Amino acid sequence: MDKPNATPLTSLDQWEDDLLQRYPDPASINAQKSKEEFRNYDAPPRDTVREFYRLNHTYQCYAFVREKEKEFLSFNKKEMSVWEAFDFLNQLVDDSDPDTDLDQFQHLLQTSEAIRADGHPDWMVLTGLFHDMGKVLCLFGEPQWAVVGDTFPVGCAFSDKIVYAEYFKNNPDINNPDYNTKYGVYEPNCGLRNVHMSWGHDEYIYQIMKPYLPEPALYMLRYHSFYPQHREHAYTHLMDDHDVEMFKWVDLFNPYDLYSKSPTPPDWKVLRPYYEDLVAKYLPSTLKF
Ligand SMILES: [Fe+2]
Ligand SMILES: [Fe+2]
Repeated sequence: MDKPNATPLTSLDQWEDDLLQRYPDPASINAQKSKEEFRNYDAPPRDTVREFYRLNHTYQCYAFVREKEKEFLSFNKKEMSVWEAFDFLNQLVDDSDPDTDLDQFQHLLQTSEAIRADGHPDWMVLTGLFHDMGKVLCLFGEPQWAVVGDTFPVGCAFSDKIVYAEYFKNNPDINNPDYNTKYGVYEPNCGLRNVHMSWGHDEYIYQIMKPYLPEPALYMLRYHSFYPQHREHAYTHLMDDHDVEMFKWVDLFNPYDLYSKSPTPPDWKVLRPYYEDLVAKYLPSTLKF
């Protein structure tokens, strides 16, 4: 299948800015801050976001996901220390508004610092620091629509609660009787561990971190963009009791991702020793991508 490399978003952040419009809730954390202190994000142009989802929904099919799993989950692209990996990730530069947009690392650090400020366990702080590391997929040449965007199961019917669901009409799986029923290739309440999700930065970083972090952290990484479930509850029929229990952690994590953006960057010089110790506590000296 032809897989276009089009980049409708001028920056990956436009997807998250659109999420903020869909799910505005500045109250849950940073409650002491006024709304104006949050990053004064630009509402991305609707046609930009729409075109992004048109591509995402057209090409994220079961066969595509399986192909990407094979390609990336052998981790033979690059081996880096954690700090080299952050430098690498920061090569993803927003050309839309370089003066006001924070770099990728700042978003990660703001997320982890907001989690730390609320007194959550240190592995959750580390999860905040790593949750978007999978966006390095862009630097391995993957198109935007295969890196970011709300994620959803493939191999079964696409929920109409997924944003811009109308664009699934162009997805090859929509006409495949193996994939276009409620359960498709899955069994009722089979557990999300048996379900293939649309390919992107969540699944990738989850698979990289799997050996090192406790299970709630892994759920946060793997499903943080699964808005169709954690916000819309559209796929409970594929979840088992354990998933339901673990999604309490996914729900806990989501506001830190969406609402921790602040125009003031944390002071990395002061924070660095804490994070060096934290990384050394859980992670090996290098990670394989
Ligand atoms: Fe993310
Ligand atoms: Fe994020």
